Amino acid sequence: MEREMSMEKPTFYVTTPIYYPSDNLHIGHAYCTTATDTLARFKKLMGYDVYFLTGLDEHGLKIERKAKEAGVTPQAYVDKIAEDTTALWKLMNIEYDDFIRTTQERHAQVVQHIFKQLYDQGDIYKSEYEGWYCTPCESFWTKTQLKDGKCPDCGRPVEFAREESYFFRLSKYADRLIEYIRQNPEFIQPQSRVNEMMQNFLLPGLEDLCVSRTTFDWGIKVPFDPKHVVYVWIDALSNYISALGYSTENDQLFRKYWPADVHVVGKEIVRFHTIVWPIMLMALGLPLPKKVFGHGWLKIDGEKMSKSLGNVVDPVVLCQRYGVDAVRYYLMREVPFGSDGNFTNESLLNRINSDLANDLGNLLSRTVAMIEKYFGGVVQPMGERTELEDNLIQLAESLTAKVEDLMNRMQFSTALAEIWKLVGECNRYIDLTQPWVLGKSEDGKARLSTVLYTLAECARIVAVYVGPFMPSTPARMFEQLGVTEDGLKTWDSAKRFGGLPAGTKVTKGEALFPRID
Ligand code: ME8
Ligand code: MG
Repeated sequence: MEREMSMEKPTFYVTTPIYYPSDNLHIGHAYCTTATDTLARFKKLMGYDVYFLTGLDEHGLKIERKAKEAGVTPQAYVDKIAEDTTALWKLMNIEYDDFIRTTQERHAQVVQHIFKQLYDQGDIYKSEYEGWYCTPCESFWTKTQLKDGKCPDCGRPVEFAREESYFFRLSKYADRLIEYIRQNPEFIQPQSRVNEMMQNFLLPGLEDLCVSRTTFDWGIKVPFDPKHVVYVWIDALSNYISALGYSTENDQLFRKYWPADVHVVGKEIVRFHTIVWPIMLMALGLPLPKKVFGHGWLKIDGEKMSKSLGNVVDPVVLCQRYGVDAVRYYLMREVPFGSDGNFTNESLLNRINSDLANDLGNLLSRTVAMIEKYFGGVVQPMGERTELEDNLIQLAESLTAKVEDLMNRMQFSTALAEIWKLVGECNRYIDLTQPWVLGKSEDGKARLSTVLYTLAECARIVAVYVGPFMPSTPARMFEQLGVTEDGLKTWDSAKRFGGLPAGTKVTKGEALFPRID
């Protein structure tokens, strides 16, 4: 009997934060999700068995108040936003594997299990909370942490709270966590966020965290004391394992994918993901996520885009106006992942017109148009190579290693810049070889077949590379280039120049990215 080839694919588990449905999502949320989707698609191309989780964080006082203002039940309120959110991800071509909602029974059951276990083992205890609470951030603060009496994160007024509460013994695990962070330099990324966590929170000493509230209801009940609801961050963070069936009979996904390879989160919530969450996991005896990447904020005129500031950009409008792939490209190219960046219409139009319409779009349209004009649309064999081809081919083939390294470090913008070096060199190669001159003589035409082969093959390679960023673009490029064979669309096939068979029939189509005025 033939031996079964049982090379299992390596797994890759990646998550976005679960968003607060306190309003419709804006382009800042789409930024985070697009980055995660881009990484997930890249890992799939690399041959990983990827699991991509996103969802909604539907409990808490903020949501309860919002629903009241809208005159609907909290459940009806979050149901509506869940619909809009999944529609947005569909529009933006976000290929997630699961969409978890914290109001789902499958989630509540796991949160209750976790809370009870931590209580039973003495890591959660009952006491009284006295301090300040920022409702929009759902964060507790001590008096000394407040900035001018306001929330140090968002600057909004805080409310005084005094109530019977359960507490989680963060203090007990602080030293273990500090040690873990020191031993695992990859855990918190980018590196600058490590110092922030250490200096601001860990080294001054962790206080135990208040993990239940009694003054509102919209949450998961503490199973053994139902006048308490579980603090929304304990509830929310648990989504990363509840979605995998942790602690249930159906825990195959948990066993397969945990620990997460990357939690992608905004910089303001790195604190919850690198302090509270790891300590919850330590207390549960579970392995910690391999990486938490804290990205920066999309800003408008220097201010974080947020509903409360009223400066949000609607991703649906943007995608309808400019196309999904153009918007995704802009988000990943404009701002280095990890830094803050300004969103402006001007920079968006600039990227579309210059990088997409001009550089990429023209490369494809000129290549296809010339093959049609000089060779009846049939790709000719590659003839003798000159130094010009050698350089271009060397650049194309060396791109794989560079892009892989940058993508693994989540440097999306730099990865695109590297890919665009090839695009730029191809366009320069057209200027240098002057196909319109070569096309005039028979001798020239022999050379021209090599030039156009080189361009068509480089365009194919570029199409493979842009796929994770712009999921619908490769198919549109392959169609014009006449690439039909799946083997010519894989990541591996982009490593070696020369895959495109002579005789391939190209067909000019619509402009990939029309110029916008
Ligand atoms: O924090 N630019 O939810 P959230 C970049 N429910 N990213 C932005 C942004 C902007 N202008 N505005 C928001 C929560 N984000 C919790 C998460 S996870 C267990 C619970 C990002 O809806 C923000 O940084 O307030 C965060 O990573 C994500 O959107 C969700 O924010
Ligand atoms: Mg927030």
